[in-house]
Amino acid sequence: MRIRSFQPSDTAALIEISKHTWGGYDQLPYELDELQANPNSYLYVMEYRNRIVAFANLNVIDGGKTGWLEHMRVHWRFRKRGFAWTMTQRLISEAEALGVKRVRLATTMENEATRRISNRIGMRQILQMKLFWKGNYRGIRWNNRSVPVISCTSDEAYKFLTAHPALISEGVIVYDWHAFDLTEEIFSLIGDRFQFWKTKGNGKARALAFGYRRIVRDAPLWVSTIYALNTPAFYSILSYQLQTAKNEQAQGVLCFHSLPYQAAHEIPGLKRSTFSSTLVVFEKHRPFLNSRV
Ligand SMILES: CC(C)(COP(=O)(O)OP(=O)(O)OC[C@H]1O[C@@H](n2cnc3c(N)ncnc32)[C@H](O)[C@@H]1OP(=O)(O)O)[C@@H](O)C(=O)NCCC(=O)NCCS
Repeated sequence: MRIRSFQPSDTAALIEISKHTWGGYDQLPYELDELQANPNSYLYVMEYRNRIVAFANLNVIDGGKTGWLEHMRVHWRFRKRGFAWTMTQRLISEAEALGVKRVRLATTMENEATRRISNRIGMRQILQMKLFWKGNYRGIRWNNRSVPVISCTSDEAYKFLTAHPALISEGVIVYDWHAFDLTEEIFSLIGDRFQFWKTKGNGKARALAFGYRRIVRDAPLWVSTIYALNTPAFYSILSYQLQTAKNEQAQGVLCFHSLPYQAAHEIPGLKRSTFSSTLVVFEKHRPFLNSRV
């Protein structure tokens, strides 16, 4: 077995692995160009008996402070042989060599293998957010306008979150399967792609949402994050997100939102055929591994 940097000629093997991941709904092949173009991305493949059996990426984010471990994939035929664990160790060694302060990764609550790997490294859970993914949402009639929602700037969004640190566990914000340190820079960076909204009532915002339209498998998906301080504000801004998704002609909605609110299986139209889970982010500060790889 050998781990080496990804080469463009590995693309077909990666597509083959993705084809058998998450029922063929893996979006990794669509992100590959972006990953290869990113100078802070370190893509690896694992070769075993002359074939590519695994793939993973280390992305150095937060101004060089965080090694973000992502896109771990092991070919279905080669799972449960310790390959993901070996790849993780390699990524972590690389992160250590690059001098990052900490490594982080995100997974869903149900992903037992990733949780076990996180546990083995000695990572701790730093945040949780609920998430739902709904494909055919356009027939949803439910709407909630109990609290008015207005658009706002990325700067206002940043100020809202810094004013309510309890909303963002450990100063980390989540969007689209990613977690970043809450900084002005990250908000001005995503400000180009995202739209921002807040609720309006008694002079104080009680919820914030930001979202963008992303193409997944040639179809537009509306991806948003909601941070809310109370239930009416949560449902009003969620309703606004569903409406925005329709206006944006999105074919599906992926939404990350604060606990303890419930959207999937709770509101009419999201009760059935909705994938829902909890996103969990794990972190470990240096030293990353007890024994070097
Ligand atoms: C998750 C995935 C990468 C794991 O790869 P793998 O090579 O089978 O994992 P490993 O063999 O290194 O196993 C790591 C640990 O998870 C456990 N494990 C592996 N698959 C498991 C499963 N399906 N259910 C429960 N535990 C599992 C192993 O027993 C091992 O536990 P241990 O450390 O206590 O011994 C692989 O299943 C995969 O590609 N899944 C689809 C993509 C995915 O979910 N990626 C992660 C995104 S966050």
